[in-house]
This record gives sequence, C-alpha cells and structure tokens, in this order.
Amino acid sequence: MTPKEAQSTSYDIVVVGAGYVGLVAAACFADLGFRVCVIDRNPDKIERLQHGVIPFFEPGLDLVVKRTIARKRLFFSPSLESVVPHAKIVMIAVGTPSQPNGKVDTHDYWKVIDAIAPLMHATALIVDKSTVPIGTAQKAMKRIARIAKKSIDVVSFPEFLREGTALDDFLKPDRLVVGAPSKKSERIMKRLIRGIRTKKIFTSLETAEMIKYASNAFLATKISFINEIANICESTGADVVDVALGMGLDKRIGTSFLRAGIGYGGSCFPKDVKALKHIAGSNHYSFKLLKSVIEVNSFQRKYFVEKIERHFRSLKGKTIAVLGLAFKGNTDDVRESASIDIINELLRKGAKVVAHDPVAETNARKVLPVTPKLIYCQTIEHAVKQADATVIATEWRTFSDANWKTLKKKMKSSLVFDGRNILDKQKMKELGFDYYSIGR
Ligand code: UGA
Repeated sequence: MTPKEAQSTSYDIVVVGAGYVGLVAAACFADLGFRVCVIDRNPDKIERLQHGVIPFFEPGLDLVVKRTIARKRLFFSPSLESVVPHAKIVMIAVGTPSQPNGKVDTHDYWKVIDAIAPLMHATALIVDKSTVPIGTAQKAMKRIARIAKKSIDVVSFPEFLREGTALDDFLKPDRLVVGAPSKKSERIMKRLIRGIRTKKIFTSLETAEMIKYASNAFLATKISFINEIANICESTGADVVDVALGMGLDKRIGTSFLRAGIGYGGSCFPKDVKALKHIAGSNHYSFKLLKSVIEVNSFQRKYFVEKIERHFRSLKGKTIAVLGLAFKGNTDDVRESASIDIINELLRKGAKVVAHDPVAETNARKVLPVTPKLIYCQTIEHAVKQADATVIATEWRTFSDANWKTLKKKMKSSLVFDGRNILDKQKMKELGFDYYSIGR
C-alpha cells in the first residue's frame, strides 16, 4: 500500500507490532471481515509482509495472510502517521520483555502510546493486546489525557493463543476476556468479537490484566508441580504419565499441562511468571509459590543433564545428539528454550553436541556459541549416527513419529534420554533401546 492509498482509506483496526500476537490477531480479524492495517517499526518486515512473507514459522498463517491481502482486507504500513488518524481501533501488540530482575520492560508500549495519542481520532479506542502489568491501561488513559488532551478509552483484551496452534487458539478460544473502562468501549468490543463464538467475560481493566498473568502463572505452576512429582516417581517406581492421567481425569484438575519433562520455556511463561512475582513484590507481597515454580523449572534442566552425566560418569569427549532446539514443537522460537540451556550445559561439561531441529536451526545459531564442538545436522539420521547418546529436547511430532526401529540400525549407540516423554517406553525397550525418560 502506498502512503496515498493509506490516507484515502479508513481502518476498523490498526495493529501496532507485527510479532506473533499482532500478526495473528490482524490476519484473523481481517479474515472475519474487518479492514485491518499492520504497522511495524521494522520496514523490511513490512516490505516482506506486503508480499505475504511471514517473519516466523506458524502453521497456516501464510495462507490467511495471503488470502486477506488478496481480498483487500489486510494492509501493511511502515508509518503510524499515515494510518492511525483513520483507525477506529488501535491495537497494541508490541513486546514487553523481562528485565534482569523480572520487572516488565514496557518501554516500547509507552513509546507507542505517546506516538499514537496525538494522532488518534477522539472517538477511537486503544486495545491492549500486549501483556502489560496490572494498572497499565488506567495509567495510559491518564497519560493520554495529559499529553494529548484527549479522553481515549484503553481496553485490556489479553491474548491466550499458543505458538504453533495460534490460528485455532485465536478463532476458537476457550474464552475471551475484555476489560473495558466504559459502556461505550464495551459495546465496540462486543461488535469486534461478535464473530468469535465462545464464552465472553467483561471485567474491569485491572482484572483483565491480572487474568492474563494469573493464567500463565497457573499453567507454569501445573508444569513445575508435575515435574516435581516426576522426580519423586523416579525414586519410588511410579510412572508419571499414568499419575498425570489418573490425576487429570478428575475434572477439577484436568489433563492438560501435566506433561512432565525438562520444563517450560518460550517467550511467555518464563517472562510472565517472573513478572507476576515482581508485581507481587512491588506490592509488598512475597509470592512464595511462584519463587518455587521458577526454581523447579531451572532445576529440571540441570537435573536432566546430571542424569546423562551420571550414566557416563563424565561427559568429557562424549558426543551427544540433541533432537530439538525450539522451546516446544511446531515453532522455530528458541527463546528460553530448555534445549538451548541443555546444550550449553553439555558443552560446559566437555561433551560434543550434534543438534537437529526441523525448523529452529537458524534461530538457535544466533544464541548458541560458535564452536567446533557444536555442529548442526539436517536430519535425525545424521545426528544420531555419530552419537554416544541421543537426547530428545523438544516435543516435535517428527521425533515421536520417526521409525525408531530403522533408526536404531543407523545409530552408534542405542542410549536415548527422552526429555519430553514422547516415546513409548515399552516399545523402546522391546526394540532394544537403553531408554530413559522423565518420571517413568
Ligand atoms: C503460552 C500459553 O499457553 C498461552 O495461553 C499464552 O497466550 C502464551 O503463553 C502467551 O502468553 O503469549 P506458548 O508460550 O506458545 O503459550 O507455549 P505453551 O504451549 O503454553 O508451552 C509453554 C512451554 O511449556 C513449552 O516449553 C512446553 O514444552 C512446556 N509444557 C507445556 C510442558 O513442559 N508441559 C506441558 O504439559 C505443557
């Protein structure tokens, strides 16, 4: 879209930030029939998006983006000035990373507020999709009144999508949560989400902001809880997979997010758990439970490497194949990935690592050290054929669906450490593998 075209049109929604959340929200709302324009401060990204090139791996997203571009419902622009004055809703979806002490870095969010406030039409609405500390939307309204002398409503509309299943999660969510500061903004939001059929909860701004943090922190707590149960299962002879099923069938507990393994990663859980702990601290409350959730999560990675080390006595000179670099399957995201920590720890202990991931190698290369002791392989076969042990670090379907019978013939060693419990323990034993997993 040329700046001239942008000026001549109005938009139902302008989305600021073409990351996972922003781009998925923009494409899905465009698919629901709204006219949407996405802005990002990175002009190269915008240029590529105009041609339908997605900056990250997300199954199905390219099709929706291309379809909505072709139907003239999705547009991209590098500049706020040309599009924000024509927007009914400005949705903020910029990153809110962690500072070293866990505090949320909202610098980019406030930069956007300051830039859009003077440009926005007085009847337009701001919608927070970024995960921001409790109280931020209220603060934003006061700030806009001060700097732009306008009374603009800021709505909290937290996002619960997961990477890898983002489209489905966005269009078929378990619930939608909207924190609206007025009846007028509540009405606008009701129209916006009319096409998404699910339970809709309308709350205060602070409650909506808290629901987002509390949900992620609770899911992370479930994972750390089952990981500790798994560690006790190992010394007592119980099987954590069956324990999780037996617990989870109780509807009050639920079966999801009870997969034991090497812990949670990604751009959200680690950041949001630390943020909520920090928010509690700034309100003179020590969130003891979350301290332990964080501690258990980092322990789980170290404990796994120690398990491998104990098997060999020393890892010096051993070659370990690591299958999976992404923080979970179906994504190329390596942020806070357990696999990255595990590889660093293996290297530190003197091992050589041969790594393979179906899509995350490029991102992993940016964060892992460049050393002859770490090499990347295009296929599972290449990685395992030279290794003294194989580690599964990511729950990719290609690893669980692999033909392990055929693989075994190519492997130098039949020793497998499954950090995600994705393989059938019994079958692996029958095939003659020396198979170790988590809590089984
Ligand atoms: C998470 C939440 O699930 C979303 O609801 C939320 O919208 C998102 O954060 C966010 O705040 O933006 P995501 O980070 O994409 O989504 O990943 P998840 O699928 O939740 O997995 C997180 C981590 O937990 C992964 O490392 C995964 O391997 C691990 N995990 C998950 C387990 O170890 N065990 C489980 O049972 C489930």
